Amino acid sequence: MRIEFVTADVQAGANAALAVLAYEAAALSPEAKAVNEATGGALARAVAGGRFTGAKGQVLDLIAPAGLEAARVVLVGVDGSGAPEPEAVEQAAASAFQAVKASGVTELVLKLGGDAETAARVAFGVKLAAYRFDKYRTTEKAEKKPSVTVVKVAAADPAKAQKAFAALEPLADGVLFARDLVSEPANILHPQEFAARVQGLESLGLEVEILGEAEMAKLGMGSLLGVGQGSVRESQLAIIKWNGAADKSAQPVAFVGKGVCFDTGGISIKPADGMEDMKWDMGGAAAVAGLMHALAGRKAKVNAIGILGLVENMPDGNAQRPGDVVTSMSGQTIEVINTDAEGRLVLADALWYCQDRFKPKFMIDLATLTGAIIISLGHDYAGLFSNNDGLSDKLLAAGKAERENLWRLPMPAAYEKQIESPIADVKNIGGRPAGSITAALFLQKFVNGVPWAHLDIASVAWKKPSTDPTIPDGAAGFGVRLLNRLVADAYEG
Ligand code: BES
Ligand code: MN
Ligand code: ZN
Repeated sequence: MRIEFVTADVQAGANAALAVLAYEAAALSPEAKAVNEATGGALARAVAGGRFTGAKGQVLDLIAPAGLEAARVVLVGVDGSGAPEPEAVEQAAASAFQAVKASGVTELVLKLGGDAETAARVAFGVKLAAYRFDKYRTTEKAEKKPSVTVVKVAAADPAKAQKAFAALEPLADGVLFARDLVSEPANILHPQEFAARVQGLESLGLEVEILGEAEMAKLGMGSLLGVGQGSVRESQLAIIKWNGAADKSAQPVAFVGKGVCFDTGGISIKPADGMEDMKWDMGGAAAVAGLMHALAGRKAKVNAIGILGLVENMPDGNAQRPGDVVTSMSGQTIEVINTDAEGRLVLADALWYCQDRFKPKFMIDLATLTGAIIISLGHDYAGLFSNNDGLSDKLLAAGKAERENLWRLPMPAAYEKQIESPIADVKNIGGRPAGSITAALFLQKFVNGVPWAHLDIASVAWKKPSTDPTIPDGAAGFGVRLLNRLVADAYEG
């Protein structure tokens, strides 16, 4: 699909859909008024004859209205009483695209407001909405595929809009990179393949280092290595560096991702039903990779580190057993009561390594860590846990701005009792009460007092069904936008 910026007087042809906005109480935008006039009032009559109110996300689809050449007109609701914020238009553009993408029209012309920033947001919304993971579909019939191949975004000054989009497009590229990783099946995307794809990011100017099992053993990463030891796939630690700050030696910000390429549960094996979902148990690592992609793509003025713990959790004759005790890089010993609580074991060593080597300003980890976070928050919020109120507040604000919502949960010291082990320094599960919180308390033992936040994204990494038009069903790429915003608003310059 191609996205182009065109002048505001563009005409939608016979194979095109034309999208225009309506505000609350179904008030027509200037572009919608022009359509209404050209069609002898057809748009107003269609509104009057239905329940369209102009609320956000509503779409009214008009087919072949007399007076226009266009095959369809879509009126998209955006709330508010006048020209909306660029961010709101992003969703309206995505809704318009979803409404017509498979309707048969080959072109979508969007007239949603002329200024450059708005037009750039329109293109951004469409680019995210048009994501499709179809590389393994070889027999799909043409009439089932999306029909829209060209998207024209009307702008007062197309060149200026193009320039505004150039600043935004790397963020979309980062999100799509993350979605691709999450969507890949685990027979393809095993730890070494994940590492290879990350290595490919060097073409963007990132520096990438990959550690294998021998190097991790030397570092004493017994916790991470124990998780991968039942797999024929070699565990990997990927380290991604972006040195964009004016001061090349400035303290970096750091992001750590859980990259369990497949989580069977190990010897504490999961039930068969739904186990296929565990191919996306690397959504945290994918988000960190996508973020680094975005930071490099837009040449962010920051020094940033991304660390991905990449493993596969399998049952095997060589797999770790419930009751095993492993020694983490921090020196702390861990009794592995349940081999399915593996993400925290991977992060324990990745977090310790991160602070030990890079002395970052803060560390934020992202992980599809607990089923309990879905029970707590449903699918519209990720869980936020932190030892630092300032960092938490910045994350909450960034999440709101990017529609990647977080909800902060407490970390009561008293609950640490639940993860006390009779024979080791800590055990890896804390029983049913507050499962997401005891997981976070476990992680906290490996951050060595550094400002830190943990995002449990098990609830949001995969959307089925999706309720956001910029996210097709499936991999959301959650975290890329949020963290890019955090960096842009609080840690650049
Ligand atoms: N990857 C899972 C968490 C998960 C569950 C993500 C459902 C997405 C959907 C994690 O490794 C896990 O298995 N957690 C266990 C922890 C338990 C054994 C303490 C869980 O949540 O059941
Ligand atoms: Mn698990
Ligand atoms: Zn897992």
